[in-house]
Amino acid sequence: MTVMTTSAAVIEDAAAYAQAVEDAVKAAAAYYAGGASPMDDDAYDRLVRGIAAWEAAHPEQVLPNSPTGKVAGGALVGEVPHTVAMLSLDNVFSPEEFTAWTASLARRIGHDVTCFSVEPKLDGLAIAARYTHGRLRQLITRGDGTAGEDVSHAIGTIDGLPDQLAEPVTVEVRGEVLMTTAQFEHANEVRTRHGGLPFANPRGAAAGTLRAKERAYTVPMTFFGYGLLPLPDTEPELAALLGHTAHSSLMARAGELGVNTTSSTAVPGITASTVGEVLTRVQGIAALRAELPFGIDGVVIKADLAADQQAAGSGSRAPRWAIAYKLPAVEKITRLLEVEWNVGRTGIIAPRAVLEPVVIDGATVTYATLHNPADITRRDLRLGDHVMVYRAGDVIPRVEAPVAHLRTGDEQPIAFPDVCPRCGAGIDTSEQRWRCANGRNCHLVASLSYAVGRDQLDIEGLGHTRIVQLVDAGLVADLADLFTLTRDQLLGLERMGATSTDNLLAALNAARNQPLSRVLCALGVRGTGRSMSRRIARYFATMDHIRAADAETMQQVEGIGTEKAPSIVAELIELAPLIDKLAAAGVNMTEPGTAPPTPAGTDSADTGEAQTADLPLAEMAVVVTGSMTGPLEKLSRNQMNELIERAGGRSSSSVSKKTTLVVAGDGAGSKRAKAEDLGIRLATPDEFAALIADFLD
Ligand code: IVH
Repeated sequence: MTVMTTSAAVIEDAAAYAQAVEDAVKAAAAYYAGGASPMDDDAYDRLVRGIAAWEAAHPEQVLPNSPTGKVAGGALVGEVPHTVAMLSLDNVFSPEEFTAWTASLARRIGHDVTCFSVEPKLDGLAIAARYTHGRLRQLITRGDGTAGEDVSHAIGTIDGLPDQLAEPVTVEVRGEVLMTTAQFEHANEVRTRHGGLPFANPRGAAAGTLRAKERAYTVPMTFFGYGLLPLPDTEPELAALLGHTAHSSLMARAGELGVNTTSSTAVPGITASTVGEVLTRVQGIAALRAELPFGIDGVVIKADLAADQQAAGSGSRAPRWAIAYKLPAVEKITRLLEVEWNVGRTGIIAPRAVLEPVVIDGATVTYATLHNPADITRRDLRLGDHVMVYRAGDVIPRVEAPVAHLRTGDEQPIAFPDVCPRCGAGIDTSEQRWRCANGRNCHLVASLSYAVGRDQLDIEGLGHTRIVQLVDAGLVADLADLFTLTRDQLLGLERMGATSTDNLLAALNAARNQPLSRVLCALGVRGTGRSMSRRIARYFATMDHIRAADAETMQQVEGIGTEKAPSIVAELIELAPLIDKLAAAGVNMTEPGTAPPTPAGTDSADTGEAQTADLPLAEMAVVVTGSMTGPLEKLSRNQMNELIERAGGRSSSSVSKKTTLVVAGDGAGSKRAKAEDLGIRLATPDEFAALIADFLD
């Protein structure tokens, strides 16, 4: 796990301290008012830590409006008083700080806490939802913690906060309102279509949407409950019960009433009895973060039992029985300097954001994906914009949106290319992803390099330089030309002696016998990578059968849906002359060990596919992580995946609830942690080798 080392801002004198307090107050006000803060979370945390450090040394000079002394975000004082203060949380940033917190809690209550509840810290806005006899009557923001703003107009737009509870009880549900990634994308699309400026991130979008009273459109948000408490009118028995119930049981009760809680997510709240267990769970949640459909910025750990909470009590800003374990920031604001248009091996022209370098969670981010031109338009991005950039785990960094309120007016529109930036040919703009009219011939060197790579035709001795040489000499104009190269042609090239020539010819000859799955992968059909190529080849068994398939038949292959099928069929038609040329050059077009599917209407139990039921990995979804040892040591990840599929399993690169087995070698990290977290079976490389011994050469 990355340990966050949030350093403190250095404050040298009283004037700098006053300025720091002013900056922090302004940033917090903007943050709670609509997420339009010029400071990202990391910068804010650093500033507040600096302020706290200075105050510790100069307690007599602490300013009354310091962000350390009050309920965070005390900017929006509304009209509706809270029955019980809506507090904030104190933060810890490392296992050591967390352990120290548990020790101080134990001292305060006179014994160790033996039941903690551990939940994700949802990155949205706190809200109190008041239900009378089961009916949702009022929504109130946190405001300054004592009173909040009435935002009842949002009733009906928040998923997970039902208008009517399953029972006619009078209670207040507290929790977080946020936008999922999909809701955020949708909200910005609708907003920009209505002439509004995009929101910078999901949190800002939720804040702005919640407070907007009169809008021509509504956009949905999501609620997750994390508190259940009585109201003055609550039936006395229920009020007494709520006051004595453990937090975990309250959450189960909220779920029964129909309120959404984290229990429906990949990171449900759990209870843990030791500090070690809590820290393992923190690590588990951190490992899942990048894949969650909503933002989290930490993990909240609470003393679960009501008696422990009461014994600990609360300060004016935060309870003493709960703490936020902050995870490293995954969002930073930086500037969009340029947009590059790169042509890929299949001719796709993809835009990429060039950013002012920014460090996010320990890595310097200079580029971020922009997907396609429509995506740029949808996000309303301009050159020179400050942009919110997101990076978590291994995912490619992405630009979330411009920080529109930081615009100066000097930003420039992003120019879209009129012709292919690589070869000057026209551009096919009929699909979302633009493509050079020359298709994969535009970037022949890239498509050949891919085709001869280790996981495709695996032709040794054909490095990038050699391919450039062959293309420049006019000897190779497509993949099939490689297979008709003569000894004399190769000997005629510079730096190509007899030994290298013979080795290359031998490698080309061997490549003719690669299985169909690899030949198909080498063709670089858009939307199909290594594992999809294997699935297609195993399903159809021969290239002729693949080419005979229409879109409907193509959908019989697992993972190919209504969208992908027609484009794969169309690509194969486009590739037909090349495929014919490859076949004529003697390249294998069959998949060993498989039989073609029986004609439509026949029971699929007769097909090569269905015979997998007897294989050792039948019905299993397998993920390989870490380095392999023993009999598997020499295998590339692709070869491991080929092996898994030959043995009847499905290979996947990410661990999810659907995974059945994780093969964890040396140095396995987050995938192993995630598997442990989800209770998925783990195997060492040796155990796995024993399982599939019959399939090892
Ligand atoms: S408990 C008195 N649980 O984080 C207890 N808060 O930085 C306070 N938050 O104000 C709330 N997820 O808006 C709690 N699982 C969770 C939470 C959570 C997000 C928010 C909440 C709170 C803020 C403090």
